[in-house]
Amino acid sequence: MLKEMKINAAKEALSYVEDGMKLGLGTGSTVDEFLILLSEEIKNGLNICGVVTSEKTKNLSNKLSIPLTTLEKVNKLDLTIDGADEIDNDLSLIKGGGGALLREKIIAFSSNELLIIADESKLVDKLGDFKLPVEVSPYEHDVTSLRIMDKLNKIGYKGSISLRKDNQNIFITDGGNYIYDLSIGLISEPNIVENILNLIPGVFENGLFINLTKKVIIGNKEGVRIITK
Ligand code: A5P
Repeated sequence: MLKEMKINAAKEALSYVEDGMKLGLGTGSTVDEFLILLSEEIKNGLNICGVVTSEKTKNLSNKLSIPLTTLEKVNKLDLTIDGADEIDNDLSLIKGGGGALLREKIIAFSSNELLIIADESKLVDKLGDFKLPVEVSPYEHDVTSLRIMDKLNKIGYKGSISLRKDNQNIFITDGGNYIYDLSIGLISEPNIVENILNLIPGVFENGLFINLTKKVIIGNKEGVRIITK
């Protein structure tokens, strides 16, 4: 059922793609559905080029013969299509469940429009049920994790922090970094949390995406619902 919802959202996203566009290609199972549909359009003559946000998306794009380029070459992207782990009423997001948050944020910032595609399970009133990913340098990362909790405690957030693992091994991002997942309850002021986290030495990026998207396509059983800001 979730897969069907994801496909519905991905199909709708395709209608926003125009010939000649430079596209940011996000990461995750919903984006994978989009890539499959996009590759069909390319076979039918659509001319686009994409910039990927992860090695996973790069591998699938190559398999599907989707032409890729780099941000350096194109400078600005017309549209980025990406997924999300949580979406609140304000269209603020938590991303990074798949571990690609740093590259996803770089691409989102380089795009004229960030279009989010997701199934309806991702909609929440307030962010924070999903653990907030924070990408950090491996260097002295324990100290960075203590500092993260200390700073958040000072502004009233309590909870736990855990180093992301891939089976028994530490999860390593495409950029060679570590991820800490934060359970700090509902996040009432995402912008304050974001600013505090990104000022800590050793923190490269966090999974809060605020004011970056104005449109979300939610796939459901019937089709799609489009939420705009
Ligand atoms: C990847 O790091 C995430 O930001 C994904 O965009 C997010 O996890 C959504 O993935 P799904 O489409 O698989 O739910």
